[in-house]
Amino acid sequence: MSQSNAPAPVGIIGGTGLTTLSGIEITGQREVSTPWGEPSAALVEGRLGNQPVIFLSRHGNPHRIPPHQVNYRANLWALHQAGVRTVVGVNAVGGIHEAMGPAHIVIPDQIIDYTWGRGSTFFEGDLEEVTHIDFTYPYAEEARSVMIDAANSLGLPFSDFGVYGATQGPRLETAAEIVRLERDGCDLVGMTGMPEAALAAELKMNYVCLGLVVNWAAGKSDHIITMDEIEAAIAQGMSGVKRILEESMDG
Ligand code: HPA
Repeated sequence: MSQSNAPAPVGIIGGTGLTTLSGIEITGQREVSTPWGEPSAALVEGRLGNQPVIFLSRHGNPHRIPPHQVNYRANLWALHQAGVRTVVGVNAVGGIHEAMGPAHIVIPDQIIDYTWGRGSTFFEGDLEEVTHIDFTYPYAEEARSVMIDAANSLGLPFSDFGVYGATQGPRLETAAEIVRLERDGCDLVGMTGMPEAALAAELKMNYVCLGLVVNWAAGKSDHIITMDEIEAAIAQGMSGVKRILEESMDG
């Protein structure tokens, strides 16, 4: 089959706890560079079921790039350049909403952006015109539906809604900051959801977030947040995330 008849690859950006994607039948690996610099890692090309996919480890492989230093522009540009038009961003998050405790999976529907100082747009520099993309609904509804259907058909507990509060990191939040985020309407908190979603939208790519809650957000439990707790939630919940990815590519 010629390249042009092949279905477009789906991009999967793996975050904390998903540096490599088991289950992917790897067909190639490419180091690429972009006008925005180097992506976090090589693009891993392969198939998940019948679907061609391109996997990119957001924090590098091994995991070494902190959330505020990820070159989100290079990552999205590289995926777009490789023919990707739909991106699934897998994100570890803290849970604020009472139903969103450790190991819970969330497919959020909104974002509030608290990040700063990140390369957050392709529309800057020597421009011929100013561009403001619409970002009313930051996640692609069709791609969200595919993930929601996959999670439902697997019978996994998950939430099909949620406001993702994107914080700067790399430190976790104070309890008061979480109270403020909750007052703002955030259900989840994470450090990598933005500008990734907006950059995908600027490139007219469909973007959906698959969030895995790895801890109660600061002040939401009776203890401080530990890496042990985070690792335990990843061990418990990431298999569900992978199953949703596999199931969603099967259709
Ligand atoms: N806050 C911000 N980002 C996170 C958290 C958190 O509690 N957990 C995982 N990523």
